[in-house]
Amino acid sequence: MSKTKVASKNKTAKLTIDNKSVFLPIYHSTEGESVIDITNLHSEANVFTYDPGFTSTASCESKITFIDGNKGILRYRGYDIEELAKKSDFIEVVNLLIYGDLPNKAQLKKYKQLISRHTLLHDQIINFFQGFRRDAHPMAMMVGVMGALSSFYQDSLDINDAHQRQEATRRIIAKASTIGAMAYKYSIGQSFVSPKNNLSFSENFLHMCFSNTAEEYKISPILAKAMDTIFILHADHEQNASTSTVRLAGSSGANPFACIAAGVSSLWGPAHGGANQAALEMLEEIGTSKNIQKYLKKAKSKKDPFKLMGFGHRVYKNYDPRAKILKNICQKVLKHTGIKNDPILKLAMDLEKIALNDKYFIEKKLYPNVDFYSGIILKAIGFPPEMFTVIFAISRTAGWTAQWTEMIEDPIQKIGRPRQLYTGNKHHKYGYKRSKKNTR
Ligand code: CMC
Repeated sequence: MSKTKVASKNKTAKLTIDNKSVFLPIYHSTEGESVIDITNLHSEANVFTYDPGFTSTASCESKITFIDGNKGILRYRGYDIEELAKKSDFIEVVNLLIYGDLPNKAQLKKYKQLISRHTLLHDQIINFFQGFRRDAHPMAMMVGVMGALSSFYQDSLDINDAHQRQEATRRIIAKASTIGAMAYKYSIGQSFVSPKNNLSFSENFLHMCFSNTAEEYKISPILAKAMDTIFILHADHEQNASTSTVRLAGSSGANPFACIAAGVSSLWGPAHGGANQAALEMLEEIGTSKNIQKYLKKAKSKKDPFKLMGFGHRVYKNYDPRAKILKNICQKVLKHTGIKNDPILKLAMDLEKIALNDKYFIEKKLYPNVDFYSGIILKAIGFPPEMFTVIFAISRTAGWTAQWTEMIEDPIQKIGRPRQLYTGNKHHKYGYKRSKKNTR
């Protein structure tokens, strides 16, 4: 991938500190906000910028994913998510994210073959699973086994070799789904089911999760399409916490499997990928529409840590376009599985309606996000809540590897090393100091 400097330096920002002015270049995005380049700020003015949570900081230049949070737009490589969800399948989207444009038929066929060649895991990896407790969260197994792949696939660890980078990428994407399915089987005490390479990516995942030694799982095209759409919608989301974690881990030169394991860890948190499990558990706790006001009051209280899971987003200040697609699929899946009048779906729709008309949620621009409806669909397909974040992780391996590759190939790539605003002690002479704050 060749990097062009998208930024055009036709404007500068002037920052004056103690009568000294520093001129900072402004770069324009192809779409979206411009950025002020502060690279030389420290050398010229001896100050750092301060931005906890990176709310106003662009950490990199990227050509992969575009989000317009005010309009509720999400595009991979320039293609609208709605169109990709309708017309593509997951592996085509993976190929798009990694190579920059949609593949032709022959390219896609070849890529699908390449991915399916990597679905098997080294036999020794079974020993890893046997080391986990049966009640371990499947995300714990994902983190551990993903990192462990670096000990098995040592011929794809050289980050400076383009061929090895591509091989590692294909291995990560193909094996993540096998690891996820094995984690599920292990947690329910069933034998592992081998992948079947004549199935599509999503069909194969359903097969590995729901077939068993006594019975072959009959794959419904409606559920396979729903599964595939979930994979497409979660495939990338520009510089979110887990992707930034992958980039930061990779910036030190760490191997790709280790970087993706770091991404899986970051995704696990309830403010990020763990929100799909938390959203369904929250709906189950609310139980009935009669309790909605009680929980909304909790969500609005500054004293209560409770938040409405599956609501709100750092970037979207409008309806998350992924949630819109999933709301529609949710109804189709429930109808197909014969779950008529599902009380949890009814509760979710009531909660959404009430929250969207509530002053607090209107003023703070809090809308349902991707995690609000995905759990209801995954539960209807047959997954327990612990698997929801695993499924998110399998899908996000596409975005993580695309973003990791972009970072490695970026000529200005440096180790990520933020600075800080130090507010600790000034120099102390060595010895015990009586301090009111010393509560040990
Ligand atoms: N329920 C109640 N209040 C909320 C919520 C919520 N779900 N989300 C944000 N707020 C309030 C928040 O308390 C804050 O209020 P104030 O201005 O009075 O301090 C205001 O809205 C702005 O929120 P923030 O926490 O400063 O926003 P953020 O950009 O730091 O956090 C978020 C974004 C997604 C972490 C947050 O909205 C949240 O915790 N939502 C629930 C968890 C969730 O659904 N996460 C999935 C995100 S989408 C998938 C993914 O990225 O993995």
